[in-house]
Amino acid sequence: MNKKLVARRFNHSVSTYQQYASVQKEMAARLVANLPPGQRIGRILEVGCGTGYLTGLLAGHYQSAEIIAVDIAEKMVAEARKLNDCPRIRFLVGDAEANEVLQQVGPVDLIISNATIQWLAFPELTVSRWHHLLKPEGWFIASTFGSHTFRELRKAFAVTESNHHLPPSRHALSMKTKQEWQQILTAGGFHVRKLDEQLRPFVYENCRTFLRSIKATGANYSESGHSLTKERKLLQDMMRIYDQMFKTDGGVVATYHLLYLYGWKGEGSGRKW
Ligand SMILES: C[S@@+](CC[C@H](N)C(=O)[O-])C[C@H]1O[C@@H](n2cnc3c(N)ncnc32)[C@H](O)[C@@H]1O
Repeated sequence: MNKKLVARRFNHSVSTYQQYASVQKEMAARLVANLPPGQRIGRILEVGCGTGYLTGLLAGHYQSAEIIAVDIAEKMVAEARKLNDCPRIRFLVGDAEANEVLQQVGPVDLIISNATIQWLAFPELTVSRWHHLLKPEGWFIASTFGSHTFRELRKAFAVTESNHHLPPSRHALSMKTKQEWQQILTAGGFHVRKLDEQLRPFVYENCRTFLRSIKATGANYSESGHSLTKERKLLQDMMRIYDQMFKTDGGVVATYHLLYLYGWKGEGSGRKW
């Protein structure tokens, strides 16, 4: 994972992010609707706050909590500051995986993250650092994209590459399975209290519109190894194939595989959900 590239992509998408981030907003709303009941939450670390959509919802939900919202992309943080004028929110530009940043944050009752942890470079190490940062009985709650996300796109690329007699290559960020996240949380010291998943189909006018919306939310990270010229030709053919293969009423379909993780830092199975 090239973090400079990740930050650059998100900085670049700052003016379009809010308009195109429908899936991310839906995920944020579901996170807030399913927060653990009956616990006093005094301090919160939000990982990857972006333009601050979840940050605002959290400030409304926990009306006396202090929120430290961290993001690696400075333009996203500037936008979040502009959109969330609340004295209880402290915004920080930084890498939420880094010890120096976590030391600045200090102990918290809740670590929460929406649509971000798929960007972690060292998920195992980072999750155990977050476990360490949490106070006893604290929660780590996150939404992310699972391994079936954009399965249509992978299929369309595979068919295109095979038509071009090319070996299959990676064209989207590889996402983890539900089981992989479960293992990462458990190895990090958490009791996994809940792990929900949802296949959420979205309809776009065509493949080009779909790709444009991914770009507008900064998520156009590719690990493919083809040259740019080859890439352009492949992309054109792939879009044509996608439009044929995944046609549906009103356009083409693209599936988001949404995961919701709930890890608890407590003793045994003491706390009931
Ligand atoms: C898809 S956006 C989600 C933003 C926000 N949580 C939302 O729901 O709208 C992912 C965000 O994570 C940030 N990010 C990625 N890796 C990060 C890291 N290691 N530390 C902090 N932020 C990171 C990106 O800059 C981007 O703003």
